[in-house]
Amino acid sequence: MKIELAQKFAEEYNKIADAVYFTPGRVNLIGEHIDYNGGLVMPCAITMGTWLAISTNEIDSYRLKSLNFEEKITVKSAEVQDKKGGHWANYPIGIINEFLKDGKKIPGLDFLFFGNIPIGSGLSSSASIEMATAFALNDYFNLGYDKLDLVKMAKRVENDFIGLNSGIMDQFAVAFGEKDQAIVLDCETLKYKMVDLDLGNHVLAIINTNKPRELADSKYNERVAECQKALNLLNEEITLHYLCELTAEKFALHSHLIKDEIVLNRATHVVKENNRVHQAVKTLNHGDLKEFGRLMYASHQSLRTLYEVSGKELDAVVDYCLTDEHVLGARMTGAGFGGCAIAILERGFEEDFSKKLTDFYIERIGYPAAIYISEIGSGPLKL
Ligand code: GLA
Repeated sequence: MKIELAQKFAEEYNKIADAVYFTPGRVNLIGEHIDYNGGLVMPCAITMGTWLAISTNEIDSYRLKSLNFEEKITVKSAEVQDKKGGHWANYPIGIINEFLKDGKKIPGLDFLFFGNIPIGSGLSSSASIEMATAFALNDYFNLGYDKLDLVKMAKRVENDFIGLNSGIMDQFAVAFGEKDQAIVLDCETLKYKMVDLDLGNHVLAIINTNKPRELADSKYNERVAECQKALNLLNEEITLHYLCELTAEKFALHSHLIKDEIVLNRATHVVKENNRVHQAVKTLNHGDLKEFGRLMYASHQSLRTLYEVSGKELDAVVDYCLTDEHVLGARMTGAGFGGCAIAILERGFEEDFSKKLTDFYIERIGYPAAIYISEIGSGPLKL
């Protein structure tokens, strides 16, 4: 890909790219809608991701082009801060804005991106393009930020520039991912450890529902607000910074403060899901994949009924998996409202799984899903 992108760069800008970088996407194995509630999550980087070729230019502007989109964007440094909203180019522009706000000099630059993460599929194409830009500029200009600084910077872009009140999991996962390892991240303290993701006789399948994520950002922000509401109500009796500080027992003692059934359901999901991640870490450490799979199914059920971020497409995938004896567990991954599910599947049954799931899915939904067998990749690289 490095060579192809460098060639395209030469065609696009009539010069040679100075450097090429890669940053992965991610899946989250378990711990969904937990990061902004201060709990434990378990994502890992995947081998799909974003490639970026860059070089300085003499025109004192930033030119951005992606092989995934038609248009080419040109912005002057004085215009960078005005470019807010969810357009693809605003993710890298938001990162440039952060460096400029921090007093760094970023001269005119030409960017060429290519991503093979299906966009809006819940595999963090946005965190990947943000971190690709942050990592590349930091390296290219020797700016001296550490990886965690860049992760926090990309989260600020997502929250303040793009307008999604997301947590830190995606940016952290694409920056800190390591091959064949899952990250166990405490989103309150940002302490983390790597756990061997030894799937033995199993593989990780990613199933893209191919459902466009309509209104996903506004519904996501609504969930964040509902959790904040639950937190405020609980704080009438106890002092909490995050819902995930609650054990199930403590939550049971104070949940009477939450009278609204929907808000109560959201908080119940958060407390139980956080607990499931703690159990999932233990099961992985003991190599008990069967129990891990059971926790995945339980997580999906909770996201479906209590947190209400699934949908008929994601449910169809998981409903099929429940009938397949070669699947140990499955669940939606990422924000939800469409996007991808993941499944732990017995090695050797990939084709059988694809065929049966495809038939089931088309019958129920009317169009096919896309199925990939995923490898666990590593974080950003200069190629
Ligand atoms: C999106 C957000 C993350 C996280 C997940 C849900 O991917 O960007 O911060 O909240 O949804 O777990």
